[in-house]
Amino acid sequence: MTDDIYPIDLASVDHVLKTTRSVRQRLDLGREVPREVFEEALAIALQAPTGANTQTWRFMVVTDATLRASIADYYRQGAARYIDGETPLTRTGVSAMREFAPGDLRSSQRDGMLKSAGFLMEHLHEVPMFVIPCIESRFEHEADVFTQASMWGSILPATWSLMLALRARRIASSWTTLHLLYEREVAGLLGIPEDYTQAALLPVAWLTGGDLRPARRLPLDTVTYWDRWGAR
Ligand SMILES: Cc1cc2nc3c(=O)[nH]c(=O)nc-3n(C[C@H](O)[C@H](O)[C@H](O)COP(=O)(O)O)c2cc1C
Repeated sequence: MTDDIYPIDLASVDHVLKTTRSVRQRLDLGREVPREVFEEALAIALQAPTGANTQTWRFMVVTDATLRASIADYYRQGAARYIDGETPLTRTGVSAMREFAPGDLRSSQRDGMLKSAGFLMEHLHEVPMFVIPCIESRFEHEADVFTQASMWGSILPATWSLMLALRARRIASSWTTLHLLYEREVAGLLGIPEDYTQAALLPVAWLTGGDLRPARRLPLDTVTYWDRWGAR
């Protein structure tokens, strides 16, 4: 719902929200991302919320080719362990190996996802810019959900906002986590202090080709409940 004095171009905003995909095969590997364009997007991303307004986020930007190559090697080693089912994540159901019933939308999307992920894995070191969002403190041994949610919730919204703000400038990226299986090794390479936690790795590059399209998702009424779990 909009009115004439509300200064938001809803169509453009919705378009960006609907088309910020995991771009892996359409990254321009031959063109640098200018620092000023990146910083313009990051300044927007820093409008995201943080618990108690602490802003203990740090954004590690990596453009050095040797460092990117080393990080990409760790990413590939992480991918190999993940594919082997050698990580606890596999047990949570958030896994590319998860089987869905025949006819389930996600089954039909799986091959495309795996092909695209394989391409990124192979070419990661060629992507001109990596962004690793970090947050102060370590909380992997904190069992309570309050602490976990408060900490992740203080870095992940800004990370997603960064992807959106970049995408609005025709710069693509992809949310990735596989290098985190070697988080400590990558921290050592980059000088990230021991009391910081890395949250993701965004390979960032100009988008090649035409515009991106919205993805097909599970229908809203199958993932939304009202007042009581399971109630539509
Ligand atoms: C928490 C999280 C971790 C992810 N890790 C990886 C990754 O390590 N490598 C990768 O290629 N894609 C990764 N993805 C991207 C997903 O595969 C992707 O979001 C999903 O297939 C839906 O595609 P779309 O983002 O283009 O809509 C990750 C996404 C999320 C949210």
